[in-house]
Amino acid sequence: MRHRWFLGLLGWVAAWGPASADSVDLAGAEAQFKKSCGTCHVAAADGGKRQGPNLFGVVGRKAGEVGEFKYSEAFAKGSGSIVWDESTLDRWLADPQSVIPGAVMPYKQADPDKRRLVIEYLKTRR
Ligand code: HEC
Repeated sequence: MRHRWFLGLLGWVAAWGPASADSVDLAGAEAQFKKSCGTCHVAAADGGKRQGPNLFGVVGRKAGEVGEFKYSEAFAKGSGSIVWDESTLDRWLADPQSVIPGAVMPYKQADPDKRRLVIEYLKTRR
């Protein structure tokens, strides 16, 4: 009996232990998004905009494609062929104006862990 219980526990650890070590804390990721981006962005399937465009489905999408949002002229001109993926988003969040000069997103995140959390959250919003 005791032996069985121990094997069960081992199975549980094998199933959940290593996976959770490098998987993302999604609740934390959502909280980070709300805190860092929520004043200006939603990421909602049913649309909606604030000061910035809706970020639902942004991962894998071309820059500047949210029809109901009026991007700045600089953004419209400079977004060219940019497609938002982990690497372009990471550069954008570190320093938007280095990716699209003149873009009017007044936000920068120097901490790579926080950028990664937010990007992981956005990957779930599509
Ligand atoms: C103070 C307001 C503000 C904050 C905070 C902010 N943004 Fe933005 N964001 C904007 C604005 C405004 C634009 C449009 C820029 C333009 O038109 O030049 C934008 C544009 C973007 C775009 C381009 C979207 C597209 O449709 O191509 C992405 C991606 C983005 N923001 C992600 C984020 C993320 C992720 C965060 C949080 C880590 C964040 N932003 C925080 C205001 C903000």
